[in-house]
Amino acid sequence: MKVWVPRDAAAKALGADEVAAAFEAAGAEVVRNGSRGMIWLEPLVEVEQDGARVGYGAATVADVAGILEGTAESLGPVEQIPFFAKQNRLTFQRCGAIDPLSLAQYEAHGGLVGLRRALAMKGEEIIDVMKSSGLRGRGGAGFPTGIKWDTVRLAVADQKYIICNADEGDSGTFADRMIMEGDPFCLIEGMVIAGLGVGATKGYIYLRSEYPDAIEVMQSAIEIARQNNVLGDVLHSSHEFDIEVRVGAGAYVCGEETSLLNSLEGKRGVVRAKPPLPALEGFLGRPTVVNNVISLATVPVIFEKGAEHYASFGLGRSKGTMPIQIAGNVKHGGLFETAFGMPLGDLVNDIAGGSASGRPVKAVQVGGPLGAYFAPEKFDTPFAYEPFDGAGGLIGHAGVVVFDDTADMLGMARFAMEFCAIESCGKCTPCRIGAVRGVETLDRIREGDATAIPLLVDLCDTMKDGSLCALGGFTPYPVMSALEQFPEEFAVAREAAE
Ligand code: NAI
Ligand code: SF4
Repeated sequence: MKVWVPRDAAAKALGADEVAAAFEAAGAEVVRNGSRGMIWLEPLVEVEQDGARVGYGAATVADVAGILEGTAESLGPVEQIPFFAKQNRLTFQRCGAIDPLSLAQYEAHGGLVGLRRALAMKGEEIIDVMKSSGLRGRGGAGFPTGIKWDTVRLAVADQKYIICNADEGDSGTFADRMIMEGDPFCLIEGMVIAGLGVGATKGYIYLRSEYPDAIEVMQSAIEIARQNNVLGDVLHSSHEFDIEVRVGAGAYVCGEETSLLNSLEGKRGVVRAKPPLPALEGFLGRPTVVNNVISLATVPVIFEKGAEHYASFGLGRSKGTMPIQIAGNVKHGGLFETAFGMPLGDLVNDIAGGSASGRPVKAVQVGGPLGAYFAPEKFDTPFAYEPFDGAGGLIGHAGVVVFDDTADMLGMARFAMEFCAIESCGKCTPCRIGAVRGVETLDRIREGDATAIPLLVDLCDTMKDGSLCALGGFTPYPVMSALEQFPEEFAVAREAAE
């Protein structure tokens, strides 16, 4: 009997290796796939029955015999589980379905179709496809990928680079990790197409050390890609491209592109002033594409299914789909890829099933530790770049962290300032000193000092306008959104002291 047991780090943390070993000991043929993204069901074991893959989860070693005998209770066909069936899976179309290290399975599920098309195009035509797709940077900033690539293509240099930012540091995010562990060839293919588009022959994946499984899978996939001419002489076309994995050392700020470039060059991870843009003077001073994992991993499906197909999903200028990562106090946490536009409240209440604690949801932080809090009054905000910006927030890397009514919002605001103080690279004053003063100011508010509230507002304005990069510049978002939407929690502290 053929059984799929995920090798994804989340599934492994929940016992997938032990379950896989038990199936092997019982004589089953075990395939280690990626995760389908339904974390509350991990380890999600799949068994082929009547042409469909039927799921069992969350499976334990004790369930193995029952699954093999057909007496265990199943979840039905995995792709019909509502959380999965409601998605528009484009970037994650293969994740969980295939063995991540089988190039044959990758090709059987649409892999390399896009690369073959791109190989028949000129660089300019590749850029045109990217521009028509409307893809914007999925790391958070949402800059149009085609325009970034065009800047690099038009730059004149002896060497250009494609750098994949896999330093996924936002709280509650795991899309980069999941696709690297579940469909690594997809990222490789995207990087090769980017290289063809801009005239680069070398790529680096800057991968955080906290992701040992992703590092291992990516390194194995790169080796297989080299052996099969996906890398090297790309599909025997005489176009050269190679990729190396470089492991980060655990600084949040190294997810900022210029700091990442410094780290990659062996220097201290300090932010560089822009301009010059990395697109013109990036790695080793050469024109460089720096894109997030999801941006690059979305490129193959754009070339496979067509830019128009991709752009037909979404809302306004937020085209295509977004792999939204739902975490925190929710019943159904996981990865939900959907077209831009779904109201935040639908995601939290319908898709994620509300809070795990059963208590009312108080706030949702979207976009990592620097993202704004959204109270239920704002739950009608469509999940897309412009609507979130208009509502005083950002979608960032699309991490959604849910809190119930026990959350201490003043404490969360303090946490944001403390986080910034710890992770600051120290280059500019508003962030280096402002974050420390921010912690102190929030402590004064907690102790009942009402005069500290306008001081906090002033400090946030200075950090927002005067910081060199997003770390100092965005820390005011969680702080101010907590203060504006939950003023009573800042006032209660004051009253308690009076
Ligand atoms: P940014 O707005 O400065 O730049 C966005 C990108 O566009 C950069 O790659 C920049 O070099 C490029 N760019 C801008 N103008 C260009 C031009 N004319 N030609 C070519 N390229 C051009 O934003 P930044 O500072 O890179 O990123 C901030 C975002 O990062 C925030 O929105 C935040 O959501 C996100 N973020 C993501 C994290 C994660 O873990 N994924 C962690 C922290 C922040
Ligand atoms: Fe460094 Fe903070 Fe300034 Fe960014 S805002 S450059 S992290 S000190």
